[in-house]
Formats: sequence, structure tokens, C-alpha cells
Amino acid sequence: MSQASIKPMRILLLGSGGREHALADAIKTSPLCAELHSAPGNAGIAQIAACHDVKAEDVSAVVALAQKLEIDFVVVGPETPLVAGVVDALAEKNILAFGPKQAAAQLEGSKAFMKDVVVAAKIPTATHEVFTDAESAKANIQKRGAPIVIKTDGLAAGKGVTVAMSLDEARNAIDEAMTDKVFAEAGAKLVIEDYMEGPEVSVFALCDGARAICLGAAQDHKRVGDGDTGPNTGGMGAYSPVRIATPEFLQDVMTRFIEPTLTEMQKRGAPYKGILYAGLMVTAQGPKLIEYNIRFGDPETQVVVPRLQTDLLELFYLAAQGKLNEAPEIKFSSHHALCVVMAAKGYPGAVEKGSIIHGLEKAAQENVKIYHAGTKLNSQNEVTANGGRVLNIIGFGADLKTAQATAYDATKQIDWPQGFYRHDIGWRELQ
Ligand code: AMP
Ligand code: GLY
Repeated sequence: MSQASIKPMRILLLGSGGREHALADAIKTSPLCAELHSAPGNAGIAQIAACHDVKAEDVSAVVALAQKLEIDFVVVGPETPLVAGVVDALAEKNILAFGPKQAAAQLEGSKAFMKDVVVAAKIPTATHEVFTDAESAKANIQKRGAPIVIKTDGLAAGKGVTVAMSLDEARNAIDEAMTDKVFAEAGAKLVIEDYMEGPEVSVFALCDGARAICLGAAQDHKRVGDGDTGPNTGGMGAYSPVRIATPEFLQDVMTRFIEPTLTEMQKRGAPYKGILYAGLMVTAQGPKLIEYNIRFGDPETQVVVPRLQTDLLELFYLAAQGKLNEAPEIKFSSHHALCVVMAAKGYPGAVEKGSIIHGLEKAAQENVKIYHAGTKLNSQNEVTANGGRVLNIIGFGADLKTAQATAYDATKQIDWPQGFYRHDIGWRELQ
């Protein structure tokens, strides 16, 4: 299918983060985009799309909105609506969407399901066991020893994983999930797996149910503090490309991880369409799968998508149609990109909303992109903080060092005393 044979479409993009602002930016430039709508969007997305006050995870409201707007194609950013079955509900109304159906979304919705698929497909990963009661879970960690990793089965907004360096820490994690029910139903089942060590890399595969194409790789910074210290977050910064993710490495990931996963999902009657995000750890024994996510990463998208020179909307559309055999060649700019996340003080804990952000225009220098995450316009039309992760400042350059310097120069222009950021994004690669 050549681009000329696809009619320009009315697009609805679901989500409100920096990932969605980056996706909106790419979709908007496609000749296949006739109109761009977003639900709910943020103050940045509102500059390029019509935003609608509908929560992305409110499936029936999303379907009603898509019908009202006569949407041709829905692009889903976050995992929650996918796990809630938004793609299935839209399909029932004959509305095409990019993302996995509910049965396939279990690859992220249930870590026990994901591990079962991965083991069946003979993909390298940490050895695991699944538990539904605290007593057996504790007996298991006692037998296996620390360090050990405890994961809630269900979605826990990135907070359901404990990498326990001692048995006490592991026991606490089991109690928190199973006795105190901190994660509600998501923690009723636990996956306990072996501890792995090595650099991490996120690889993105575009899948159409049967075929997959690599859409690049990025490195995230999950800890809140400089030098990778403090609690885990959704991600405080990212860069792309990544040195260890050579073309050979990526080809190996496609052959030994992604393709067997697609085959196994087909076997289970749940073909996988959408972005499959492989979180990998490069151990002394080679790459091993930490987890699958059923969507692009945030903030990884903010450094991968702006480097993509192929029409993203056309790729999404072909994947959703099961026609990736007709996809154009994937091309990336040779530039490096580095993203600094600005978060509200207190993140990943509780944060205050409503503080005013100044300096956005000054920061928007050459070779810089600013993607909004938790932002909202107040009644005076000022950009205010409206969440934990608030802004993404992306610098581009011929090498990573230049991209880093550019991103931090721009970040310093932002006048927002209630915010903070890490000062060392990219440090491992630049060492
Ligand atoms: P996940 O949500 O599964 O990606 O886990 C969050 C983070 O916990 C990962 O990015 C890793 O840094 C860490 N992690 C998860 N599983 C393991 C493991 N088996 N061994 C060591 N670290 C892990
Ligand atoms: N940055 C990690 C994620 O999107 O899950």
C-alpha cells in the first residue's frame, strides 16, 4: 500500500504525557493526518491538536467521543486503556485503532502471563515462580536467598517491582502487596524472580500480529536521583541511540525475542498488534528480557520518535491493518537525542499542582524540542504543573555530549522553582 492510496484520516490520540506530545508532533506532520484530536491531552498537545476532556482509560467515553468526532483511526499511548480493552470496544464500532486487543495486552497487564508466554517461547529471562499467598512466597525467598526480585502481577504505575538486596526487604515487599494490599488486586498475585545484573536497554518493535519491524532503542533513567539513586520513577531521562544496541544486537533481539513472542501469541489466539517494548538487561550471559510493555516508553519515545524520518502514522496504520509487509523502509536521523525530565518536587511521591512555569519560549532554542507531560493552562492562559512528571526537554546533536549540553542549556532557561531534574542524564554512556 503506497501512501498515496491511504486517504488522510481523522485521528484521535489517547493519553496526556510527554510520550503523547511526541507522538502528536510526529502524527501532525504526516500527510495522512487530516485532523488531530486528543483525549485528554495536555497544554503542549493543545497547541497542535483539539483536546477533549475525556479520560483515556474511560473506554465507553472514548468510544462515544470517537463516534461523535467521526474518527478514522485511534492511536493509544498508555497501557491502561489497552488493558481495559479500548481497542476491542472500538473494533466493535468498526473504528480502527493502533494497539493490542485486551487478550494481547495481558503481556503487560499480567506479569505472570508475560512470563508464561516468554518461557513457552524459550526467550532468555530470569527464572521465576508465581504466588498467591504470602506464606508460600516467603518460604520461596527463604529457599532462594537475596538478592531477589518481587513483582506485582498487575499494573502498579511502575511501583510494583522491588529489587530486594536482603531477605528482610523481600519479606516487606511481600507483606506490602499481600497483607497490606498497597497495590489492591494488582498485588494479589506475585512473581518472584532471580536477580539479574547489567546495563538496561529498551527496544521498540512495531508489530502487525504476524510481522515485526524494529523501531529503535533507547536508554531510560528510572531512579529519581543523580547517579541512579533513590526510588524508581516512570523515567527521569533518556537518550538514543544507545551504543550497545548495534544493528546486530537489534537484529538478535528481533529474532530471538520479538518474533518467537509473536508466534506464541498467535498460537494462543491473541495476535499482537502495536508497539511491543522489550525491556532488556544485558547480562554476562547476553541479553535477557526483564519485561514487556505494550506501548512506547515514556520518556524513551521523546528521544526515538523525533529521530525517525519515516512517516510514523503510515507505519501505525499499516501495523493496525496487518500489512507491515507493505511498510516503507525505517530511517533514522544520524543525530543523537537526549531528554531531561522536569518533575514537580516530591515526585515520585505526592506533588502539588498549579505552580506556574516560565521561560518555555526562552528554552525553545535551536536543536531543542520541549514536550509537555503533566501541564495545564490556567485561567490566565499560563502553563502550570499538573502532575508528577511535567516537562521533557530534548536536545539534539551530532554526538551524545552535544545533545546533552544542548538539553541542559535549555533546561536552565526554565523558570520553575517548584520543579527539579537529574543533572546526569546520559552519564553511563559518556563515562
Ligand atoms: P519492570 O517494571 O519489570 O521493568 O522493573 C523495573 C525495574 O526494576 C527494571 O527497569 C530493572 O531496573 C529492575 N528489575 C526488574 N526485574 C529485575 C531483575 N530480575 N533483576 C534485577 N533488576 C530488575
Ligand atoms: N520509561 C519506562 C516506561 O515507559 O515504562
